[in-house]
Amino acid sequence: MRPLRIAFVASEIAPLAKTGGLADVSAALPRFLLQRGHDLRVFLPFYSTLRTAGAEPLPVEFLQDLTLEMGGHGFHWSVWTLQLPGTGVWVHLIRCPELYDRPRLYSGDEDDAFRFAFLSRATLEACQRMGFAPEILHCNDWHTSLTPLYLRSEVGWDGLFAATKTVLTLHNVAYQGIFGSHLLPALDLEEHSSLLHQEHLSHGYINFLETGLLYADALTTVSPTHASEIQTDTYGMGLQGLLRQRSSDLVGILNGVDYEIWSPETDELIPARYSAADLSGKDLCRKQLLEGMGLPSEPLGGGPGQRPPVLGIVSRLVSQKGFDLLMESLPFFLRDQGVRLVVLGEGEKRFEVFFSDLSRRFSDRVAYFRGYEERLAHWIEAGADLFLMPSRYEPCGLNQMYSLRYGTPPVVRRTGGLADAVSAFDPRTGEGTGFLFDHLTSYGFSWALDQALATWRHPDAWRKLQANGMAADFSWGRQTRRYEALYRQVAGG
Ligand code: ADP
Ligand code: GLC
Repeated sequence: MRPLRIAFVASEIAPLAKTGGLADVSAALPRFLLQRGHDLRVFLPFYSTLRTAGAEPLPVEFLQDLTLEMGGHGFHWSVWTLQLPGTGVWVHLIRCPELYDRPRLYSGDEDDAFRFAFLSRATLEACQRMGFAPEILHCNDWHTSLTPLYLRSEVGWDGLFAATKTVLTLHNVAYQGIFGSHLLPALDLEEHSSLLHQEHLSHGYINFLETGLLYADALTTVSPTHASEIQTDTYGMGLQGLLRQRSSDLVGILNGVDYEIWSPETDELIPARYSAADLSGKDLCRKQLLEGMGLPSEPLGGGPGQRPPVLGIVSRLVSQKGFDLLMESLPFFLRDQGVRLVVLGEGEKRFEVFFSDLSRRFSDRVAYFRGYEERLAHWIEAGADLFLMPSRYEPCGLNQMYSLRYGTPPVVRRTGGLADAVSAFDPRTGEGTGFLFDHLTSYGFSWALDQALATWRHPDAWRKLQANGMAADFSWGRQTRRYEALYRQVAGG
């Protein structure tokens, strides 16, 4: 089939800039689209904190010393490129030190409105200057949600974009980019204010994500279950009405896993490699994980049923992830059942304090590393026996799919992508890949963990459960074809 011209724009791309799963998706999907032969341009801010992993950004000669006027201010910018390590994907880096030299990806204040509005504007202008006429312009989350509107308001006159259709992927509707309407002139939106959500304008604010929902030609979210959930009052975060109106343009496509990065057979970041046929390397990973985290060493060879399991957590520590459900019950599991717990994450103070206190109280059973550590994330996937994701909501979630591949069955709440990727283990039939609970309570979580611990006591059942998860296939190859089908449908052919 004819290749498509696709522009893909995001605020995070792994490993260059990452705070969560958006970065993993924005690295993998373009890579697989490129493999399918499409003509692809990827755009990302040139953050001063970019992690280039040895790759060197190069200036695009004819795109240096540029000025873009936004809100009467001339922003000086240029375009650099960098090949994503280990892939054929060239990322176009929008360099504008005034906006992107910050200690963190997101400043969390008004400043972000300009930083990301500019990303949209510069992406469109870079396409113009390169003479690149995208048939699909794929935006992600609130940061790039003004792009469909700017496509009309700023460059609608340019025939280059005559056939451009926009796709907006909703990775997380809880983050909407809401700013005071006093910013409209600075964003060049004042004279187009009739195109914005009038009721919200009258209340004095503009919502980037909502604006994207109004103007993108197609909407996607990252799992089929979440596509239904966000149309309800419980999960829609105030956007449910609009999402219901656009229901026929909204599809859920489950994220994939990049198995070149996340496979225990080849993972160079873990202490030993292993496969479903030979799990001895996993045992070594567990031993080294415990020792590396300062917990008492345990001999090799103690399998399911012979020792308490190691529970693992790798997460942003925010209320979305549901860790408050563990606060009451975890101490009992640690004390009465002797389970071990290894946690990696940072975020809200109340969760950081909870896990630090727990590691002091159960110093021989709990280890908490506060921070962001790529290697340790892989170690925990490999070295833990069970992986915990009690999320209140989870648009997709990647760690449950990684943990399945690493033979580390997940305990998850039945929501979003967790519900779509994990099936309940049934000891009678030997089918299923993990443990799910419905009730958003401490009891709900304890019930699921109890089921997991009961299964752990039966080595044969446990091995079957692990094998089921390791055989599950969430490869990007298949999911990329779903995006491709959507692009063709939107592009009209
Ligand atoms: P979300 O995007 O909501 O954070 P996902 O499950 O989709 O959730 O993706 C999380 C990604 O971020 C995974 O790749 C996970 O390993 C990674 N991650 C989260 N917290 C950390 C951390 N503290 N250190 C290293 N990696 C982390
Ligand atoms: C968001 C969601 C997460 C999803 C990720 C990538 O951050 O919280 O569930 O996996 O985006 O789509």
